[in-house]
Amino acid sequence: MSSTPFVAAGEPSDLVEEVRAAFAETYGVEPALVTRAPGRVNLIGEHTDYNRGLVLPVALPHATFAAVALRDDDQVRIGSLEQDEPWTGGPDALSSATGWAAYAAGVVWALGEAGIPVPGVDLLVHGTVPLGAGLSSSAALECSVALAVCAAVGVPVDRQLLIDACIRAETEVAGAPTGGMDQTVSLRASSGAALLIDFDEGTSEPVALPLEEAGLALLVTDTRVKHALVDGGYAERRADCEAAADALGVPSLRQATLSSVSAMTDDRVRRRATHIVTEIERVRETVTALAAQDWDEVGRIFRASHASMRDDFEISCAELDVAVATAVEAGAVGARMTGGGFGGSSIALVPVDRVDAVVRAIDVAFVAAGFGPPAHLLASPGPAAELVWPAP
Ligand code: GLA
Repeated sequence: MSSTPFVAAGEPSDLVEEVRAAFAETYGVEPALVTRAPGRVNLIGEHTDYNRGLVLPVALPHATFAAVALRDDDQVRIGSLEQDEPWTGGPDALSSATGWAAYAAGVVWALGEAGIPVPGVDLLVHGTVPLGAGLSSSAALECSVALAVCAAVGVPVDRQLLIDACIRAETEVAGAPTGGMDQTVSLRASSGAALLIDFDEGTSEPVALPLEEAGLALLVTDTRVKHALVDGGYAERRADCEAAADALGVPSLRQATLSSVSAMTDDRVRRRATHIVTEIERVRETVTALAAQDWDEVGRIFRASHASMRDDFEISCAELDVAVATAVEAGAVGARMTGGGFGGSSIALVPVDRVDAVVRAIDVAFVAAGFGPPAHLLASPGPAAELVWPAP
């Protein structure tokens, strides 16, 4: 048994009760239903989604719960137990919502744009996905709201339509030019598995991740360095990738080869493209290594991925580098930064009996480096977004 105080995912039944009670208190009525949508951590395939590449994320056990009731008018009210400011507005205000509420109001707007007849709704959300940690609290919020609103309206749930609406909310209303991995895994994951998503083919399939059988845990370390995808670095990387594809005369870096990239003359753009082309290959290699249960090979690929993000894509930071290097020194099979970068979280594959030692080593290394304390959580791959109350 571990003695480390991990960030808890919470008991789903407790979270449902909490959000139902808070909904009744806030709006004076019972919600019609409650949904749950998970955050995610990406095993490998970073910044490859918007390059039509491959990614391999898992759904976290940490999730956002959304309670909803339809209204008789067209007003939308959105509250959160984790945020101070509720949001209220009519249909015309949805697409100009700002701050955290943009992710929820944006979804209501995008569902309307997709032809779902959405009336006014009251929404209340509550969850355990750490905010600003690179673990897709925004996708969890979007997907829980999208599923809740669709289910309350009574239209058949088309998961691809929900994914597309959530992506529109994030890119067009919240203004984060992200690539679609987070929403796809939140709505399509399966328990005990990672999800291999191919953004060129538009397909996804589960890839078994028998961590327990292998005696391994997936340790996520939140550096607490806040990352925000609406800040400039993410969009700059995206622009560099588009410039690289243009220079190579290919529709996206998915179609580029390493030899053509190596011949590029702009040093920065060449290094960005090198990361993408090699990272897509590393996703393939990881899937092969997982099928063979070759965990040492998975660890080697993780370490190569981290070096590529640190040196070529330049999205790591001192805290992430320390977390990754220390995890490996203290016994992790492999570790890498995960998510958009510029802060956020790292992941490490750690033998179960080394987890406490790895956590302690990272904590000590952070103190020694003068960083603030990190937070840790265990990522056992959980299920996709679902209706949780009334019991389906
Ligand atoms: C963020 C984005 C994703 C993806 C990752 C990097 O999480 O939301 O679309 O681009 O960064 O892999």
